[in-house]
Amino acid sequence: MTNPISQSAAALSQDQLKTLVGQAALQYVVPGEIVGVGTGSTVNKFIDALAGMKPLIKGAVSSSQASTLRLKALGIAVFDANDVTELSVYIDGADEIDGHGNMIKGGGAALTREKIVAALAKQFVCIADESKLVQTLGRYPLPVEIIPMAAQQITQRFAALGGQAQVRLVGGEPLVTDNGQILLDVTGLVITDPLAFESQVSQWPGVVTVGVFAFQKAQVCLLGTAQGVKTLIF
Ligand code: A5P
Repeated sequence: MTNPISQSAAALSQDQLKTLVGQAALQYVVPGEIVGVGTGSTVNKFIDALAGMKPLIKGAVSSSQASTLRLKALGIAVFDANDVTELSVYIDGADEIDGHGNMIKGGGAALTREKIVAALAKQFVCIADESKLVQTLGRYPLPVEIIPMAAQQITQRFAALGGQAQVRLVGGEPLVTDNGQILLDVTGLVITDPLAFESQVSQWPGVVTVGVFAFQKAQVCLLGTAQGVKTLIF
């Protein structure tokens, strides 16, 4: 039987690459423990693979209502983040990742809970297809979760940095996050110092979470490529 992880990925679609890295992430799950679980289409592949390890793990801490539903549907116990003091590993996707493990996240609107769960974990394992690997963060519109009454002033602050902020809409209305807030997507940024940028924007009044993950960067990235799954260590 072919091992899907060692299989040549030359002819694989982006969806199949996501399946490969989702399966490859199982090697980082510690038997007997609770695993931190992110959000998104790549993580969905990981959750599906995790169902095969269900008897070996205690359960998961989830970063979104969507992931919680998927985990529970597969019979995996979901713990509240307040019930754990530390996780060995958090597994999540990214919208962009650079050569140091810094990421842009939040394309799926779950960035706040993702950062909270990532902060509980000793190790962040990012799973992504190679289209996500960049030299410098900023090509992907930066998600920022904000308090609605601060939208105008935060938009002005981004404009001063060369960014154009737009409220994320769904069906013509502002998207409301799992936390009852809204999102800005900011284009036109070139984030050369992710740690300084995250630190700066996080201090602006009304910012709940900025989608730069530099303080909670990845230590490992499992990257789906035409040559198969590559492991990047940061
Ligand atoms: C969710 O809010 C995001 O941070 C996701 O981790 C990110 O958007 C990657 O999603 P995909 O795996 O669907 O590309």
